[in-house]
Amino acid sequence: MTTPSSELSSTELPDYAHLQAGGTSVVVDLRSAGQPIIVHWGEALGPIGEDELAGIARAARPQRVSGGLDETARLTVLPQESGGWLTTPGLVGDRDGADFSSRLVLTAGTVSATEAAFVLRDAAAGLEVHVSLALGVSGLLHQRLRLVNLGDAPYRVGALSAGFPVPPTATELLTTTGHHLRERSPQRHAFTIGGHVRESRRGRPGADATLVMVAGTPGFGFERGRVHGVHLAWSGDHRILAERTPTGDAVLRAGELLRTGEIILAPGEEYETPDAIGSWGDGLDAFAARFHDELRARPLHPSRPRPVTLNTWEAVYFRHDLQTLRRLADRAARVGVERFVLDDGWFHGRRDDTAGLGDWWVDAEVWPDGLTPLIEHVHGLGMEFGLWVEPEMVNPDSDLARRHPDWLLRARDELPPSGRQQQVLDLAHPDAYAYIAGRLHALLDEYPIAYLKWDHNRDLAEPGFGPHGRPRVHENVRALYRLLDELVERHPGVEIESCASGGARVDLGILQRTHRIWTSDCLDPLERLDIQRYTGLVVPPELMGAHLTSPVVHSTGRTVSLAFSALTALFGHLGVEWDLTGEDDDTLDAIAEWVSLYRTHRGLIATGRRVHADLADPALDLRGVVAADGGEALYVHTQVRTSTAHPPAPITLPGLDADRRYRISIAVPADAGGYLAQSPLAWEADPVVLNGRTAAAIGLRPPVLLPQAAALIHAVTVD
Ligand code: DGJ
Repeated sequence: MTTPSSELSSTELPDYAHLQAGGTSVVVDLRSAGQPIIVHWGEALGPIGEDELAGIARAARPQRVSGGLDETARLTVLPQESGGWLTTPGLVGDRDGADFSSRLVLTAGTVSATEAAFVLRDAAAGLEVHVSLALGVSGLLHQRLRLVNLGDAPYRVGALSAGFPVPPTATELLTTTGHHLRERSPQRHAFTIGGHVRESRRGRPGADATLVMVAGTPGFGFERGRVHGVHLAWSGDHRILAERTPTGDAVLRAGELLRTGEIILAPGEEYETPDAIGSWGDGLDAFAARFHDELRARPLHPSRPRPVTLNTWEAVYFRHDLQTLRRLADRAARVGVERFVLDDGWFHGRRDDTAGLGDWWVDAEVWPDGLTPLIEHVHGLGMEFGLWVEPEMVNPDSDLARRHPDWLLRARDELPPSGRQQQVLDLAHPDAYAYIAGRLHALLDEYPIAYLKWDHNRDLAEPGFGPHGRPRVHENVRALYRLLDELVERHPGVEIESCASGGARVDLGILQRTHRIWTSDCLDPLERLDIQRYTGLVVPPELMGAHLTSPVVHSTGRTVSLAFSALTALFGHLGVEWDLTGEDDDTLDAIAEWVSLYRTHRGLIATGRRVHADLADPALDLRGVVAADGGEALYVHTQVRTSTAHPPAPITLPGLDADRRYRISIAVPADAGGYLAQSPLAWEADPVVLNGRTAAAIGLRPPVLLPQAAALIHAVTVD
């Protein structure tokens, strides 16, 4: 991004701003209404002159129509009723009923090649809003708003949201929904006139949260169809809206959902929104690539190879026993695991999920010599040690809750409805924060812990500051971010995983200060196909925890092959969630082979471009990772269930360089099921050679697989 110029008054500002970066242009008209208007957000326009910008702005002006206001309202950066905007406004708030409607007009701003900042002021209402637009390296549009109360009475903020205009051809919407064990399940419908709202009122995004709101041309897929969409980088309540107006505008709005009274600004105080981030592209893979590329360019982004992880949860649950865990660690090291994570159950009084949360010291009964004997054993085997924590939660049956009942979020004397027998700590309470920060620092100082799995196992209900107190979600999210930042700074090198009953807290607010997400508690590869596909709309594969399951999946009861589990987990951050102590040598050898395959390719997976083929056959799934230089690609071809055709019709391999030729073959270290040997792709002496254009357009007959089996296809350039 370039340095913005110094602030100019509204009259000194240019008539138009043209921001351009990463293949995206944003054109802002600063003259046609009292506020800036984004008249283009999408493909890069190149070096165009003032006259063309003027043309774009002029062409966007709506006419006056019968039955309407004398001037048809414009979709400005903060549309408001005073400008004639009669659908969802950008700002909602009041001073005890007064100043319910604002007239914020452009008074000053700065514009550079990639950023613009505008000051909108309503002197009479005593309000000022700072709007910032910034294009990131890969062409993501970031919007952030800051509201300042210039008046002499408190101002209650109801909503403040950023708007992203989308083209009229975007008539289909995609969001995600879900529940525990099935996060980010896609849903689509027509984007007709009116509003389609997705809200989270769970104090965390929640398992049902939409990761994105995408609007696109009808039937858009991963390879094709123009799409525009938004993500809100925030780990609390949110409101994301797609609204099409009867006056021909369509907009995606994203902002924090503020509960009544949550933000009341005293004179001089301000409220800043989280980042609302817009992406666009031809196909969802192009949309996702902008997120992946920008995340990968961050200084915090994990750059060392992602260590293969063993998480103890499904292996032992709460049955913590040093001997068993040592044996599990031995087996983990034998199959090539590099990080051993001790999950829930290690701290004071924690024998099951009814007690202990809050008492963050090692349980002396279960661990008479502390964690050192296990950690030394793990280190002796050449692995890192990681530990599970759930710092924001408290069991009423804990010393913490007994000593400090006033540290629990609640709206009345009675506690809110419980979830997993737990209540929520008010992390915004300075003493509660100090206690938790102190315990975490102490653990990290005492033990050589390389990794924290940071869990959050319930939706919030009635998250108030004590009986008759105000809502506290916003303050708690800010306190959480502060705590995570403090930990990362004080303990350099420690990595943190964001987990929330699986994947209920997946957003770029949390990922700004953590190193991966736990994608889902569901390890069933069949379910994981969609969960990972849609989580990947924002999260790059190397930040997505994906573990090998035990043969009978705990959460679905389905029996799955190791190859299917491994190939589905391959395009992620690989781990093992399985009691290896009961497995024989053959199984351990097979696991070791898959782990070794991941280790061979993890560099490619962490840097390559993720692709998915838009196949006509719903029984097939074809996804891949193409190296950044186009030199090679890995594809996983999955036979989800039987196809109507037998053998199935050709599959296509997207993402390769159109003009380069590739040798394409099956690459698997073990049997992936089915009849692989009969596939032309398996004839190494006489491999299939296609160029990138024909591989994507014409494709090839896939190997015939049994249902719920997968094969790994490798494409390497010949020239
Ligand atoms: C929920 C997580 O998603 C699981 O992986 C595990 O850590 C449990 N919590 C532990 O209570």
